[in-house]
Amino acid sequence: MYLIETEDNIGFLTASYVKNRIKSFVPTKSKPYLVLAFPTGGTAVDLYKNLVKFYQDGLNFDKVVTFNLDEYAGLPENHPESYHSFMAKNLFNHIKISKEQINILNGNAKNLEQECANYEEKIKNYGGIDLFIGGVGQNGHIAFNEPGSAFDSKTRVVDLTSNTIAANARFFNGDISQVPTRALTMGLYTIMDAKEVIIMATGNKKSQALYHAFEDKQNTDWPITVLQKHPRTFIIADKAATSEISKTTKQNCGLCSFIN
Ligand code: GLP
Repeated sequence: MYLIETEDNIGFLTASYVKNRIKSFVPTKSKPYLVLAFPTGGTAVDLYKNLVKFYQDGLNFDKVVTFNLDEYAGLPENHPESYHSFMAKNLFNHIKISKEQINILNGNAKNLEQECANYEEKIKNYGGIDLFIGGVGQNGHIAFNEPGSAFDSKTRVVDLTSNTIAANARFFNGDISQVPTRALTMGLYTIMDAKEVIIMATGNKKSQALYHAFEDKQNTDWPITVLQKHPRTFIIADKAATSEISKTTKQNCGLCSFIN
C-alpha cells in the first residue's frame, strides 16, 4: 500500500492516472476492454469533472467498461440520490459511452442476491477489474463494505451502519429517515482481485480511517485494512486526512510520484 500525500487536486491527479491507463490500453481479442470500477460520493465529484474535461480534449472511452462499486437497495433508479443518477449527472451524460459499457447494480431487482451474483460473474467475464477507484467511509468502509465485512466477501446485499446512514444523510436533506438502510456492494474479495486500486481521501473526517489503514494490523473492524496486502494500492490523500499517520510511517510507506 502506497501513500501519496498531496495538497494538489486529488480528483485531477486520479483522473490523470485513469486517462493514462485508458490511453496506454491495447485491446486484444481476449481482452477487448479496460475494466474500471467507479465510485460515488462527494470525493468522486472532482474526479468526474476532470474526466469530462479530458473527454472534451479528446479522451476516448470506446474501449472502456465500467462497473460501479455499489448502489442503494430499494431507492428508485431515477431518485436524484441513487448512484445511477449520480453517475449520469457527473459523468455518463457528458461523455460518449454506450449503455452496454456501463454496469451499475440494480437496487430494485426482484432477486437482489441473484443480481449480485450476476454482477460478480460479469466482472469475471470481462477479465476482472483493471483499476478500482474508491473513496473511504469515516468508519473505514470501502464501497459499502461496512465494519465486520469478511475479507473474502463478494458482491452482495448489506445493511448500512448508523454511522454511514448519518454520514450520507447530507445527501438526503439531512434527514436520516430518508437514507436507505440497505445496499448492494462489490465485496472486499472483488476489490482485492483488482489489479490496481486507488483510494481517494480528503479532510480530517477520514483521518481515523487512514490511521487504521497504515498503523493498525489487518482487521475486519476497519475494512480498509484489507488493502494492506494488495500489491498495487495507492492511497491518495490530503494533509488533513493523513494527520493521524505518524511521520515514520509516512517515510516508510513510499511517497511515489505516479503521474506521468
Ligand atoms: C459512500 C459510498 C462509498 C464512498 C463513501 C465516502 O458511502 N458508498 O463508496 O467511498 O461514501 O464518500 P464521500 O466521498 O462522500 O465522503
